[in-house]
Amino acid sequence: MRPLASATLFLGMITLPYALPAQEVDAPVRYDEDYLSADFHRSRRAAVVAQLPGNSLVVLFGAPIRNRSNDMDYEYRQASDFLYLTGSEEPGSALILAPGGLEVDGERVHEILFVPPRDPAREVWDGRRFGAERAMQRLGVELALDAMRFAEILVPLLQNAQHRVYHLGFPDGVPERSVLYDQLAAFMDNVDPAALAGAGTGSAAPLRGVLDGLRAIKSDEEMTALRRAIDITTEAHREVMQQVRAGWAEYEIEALVEYTFKRNGSEHPGFNSIVGSGENSTILHYMTNRRVTEPGDVVVIDIGAEVHGYSADVTRTIPVSGTYSPEQRAIYELVYRAQEAGIRATRAGNPFFASNNEASRVLAEGLAELGLISSAADTGGLRRFFMHGTSHYLGLDVHDVGSYGSLRPGEVVTIEPGIYIPVAEDIDPKWWNIGIRIEDDVLVTDGDPVILSAAAPRQIDEVEALMRSIS
Ligand code: GLY
Ligand code: MN
Repeated sequence: MRPLASATLFLGMITLPYALPAQEVDAPVRYDEDYLSADFHRSRRAAVVAQLPGNSLVVLFGAPIRNRSNDMDYEYRQASDFLYLTGSEEPGSALILAPGGLEVDGERVHEILFVPPRDPAREVWDGRRFGAERAMQRLGVELALDAMRFAEILVPLLQNAQHRVYHLGFPDGVPERSVLYDQLAAFMDNVDPAALAGAGTGSAAPLRGVLDGLRAIKSDEEMTALRRAIDITTEAHREVMQQVRAGWAEYEIEALVEYTFKRNGSEHPGFNSIVGSGENSTILHYMTNRRVTEPGDVVVIDIGAEVHGYSADVTRTIPVSGTYSPEQRAIYELVYRAQEAGIRATRAGNPFFASNNEASRVLAEGLAELGLISSAADTGGLRRFFMHGTSHYLGLDVHDVGSYGSLRPGEVVTIEPGIYIPVAEDIDPKWWNIGIRIEDDVLVTDGDPVILSAAAPRQIDEVEALMRSIS
């Protein structure tokens, strides 16, 4: 099915002009009381402007539609910063925050959300749009305007030298799909580069820094969504452990995972599901998922459901036949001990990289004991088998933003050590093709770390016991 070039109805050989009726159908309700409220997003906008000078002008663009092929686009995903500040999931939107106030149509306002105009003909194909009136009611922004007015409002503001402009760059994508992007040239032509604050990185990016600092600490409302995403993900791991058997293709495991996500209300995976069996278990971001599993394989399953923008990220490595071999068991136990050490180090006040350092120490000692590296001091050897860090922040992005400084209560991080042993002449073949990663989502608190993904069996005996209950 593809859209007609114009609002025309084809009936056999006869073409009838057909005026689509304007419809007053409610825009889909995205948030219910369990999830992020308009008040939450309002509080986030207030927190951003509280950290910027009074003459600031924040200009933020939503994500564009991205084209997949010919006239088919990818499923839309709003830019995380934009979602955080507005709750809007409409492509072609923009936000202006002006803590000092602005005159618009004779009214003084402090924030303007630009939204795509209502268009009944397009809405029949693409779904309902808020339009300016309903965007104000539903999203609780002070003023929403048709995106057609973006340049008209913004250009005079940019020409006012008193404003200090903060923005995070321009959207790429498909300009012809949105009235907003037609107007970007006006933004670029009129903004004085000297007035820009935040277009770069590091200390030149105070807006980025402000957003990173805020987004890293999760509120109770955000934790409700994130906990739900994590619960759905651990449920998917349990389903796989109970159902999988040797001979399943990797994509069948992926299908069961993503079926479990959707069935439980996750809108989509937060990232492409990684299901790597046998030799593919040693490829860190393997996403092809086409191999058929064989008896004796381990399977790395690195998955995360997304709920209302918040993504889980939980990895389990399971023996497809239900029992780990002695070599798989040895590597698994080592990775498990490293993960435990990493989790113990996940405490408020500790450096972000403390977990990585602790886990790396355990892995190096263990690999030396197994004879896979020359000594615990052999960092090159360690890096051959463990070539990534143990942690990243988790939230609206699976690799979420954060300061990477000292850990703070309310931050959520992953702890995910791994060992990946390739086929190589200098390695005893009994170790070949063993890739083991264990990943959990951990909340930093004032006290002990909380493992949010504990419902997915993690110890060898628990995994094997659940797999024995195969139906
Ligand atoms: N879940 C994939 C990663 O953390 O890189
Ligand atoms: Mn991860």
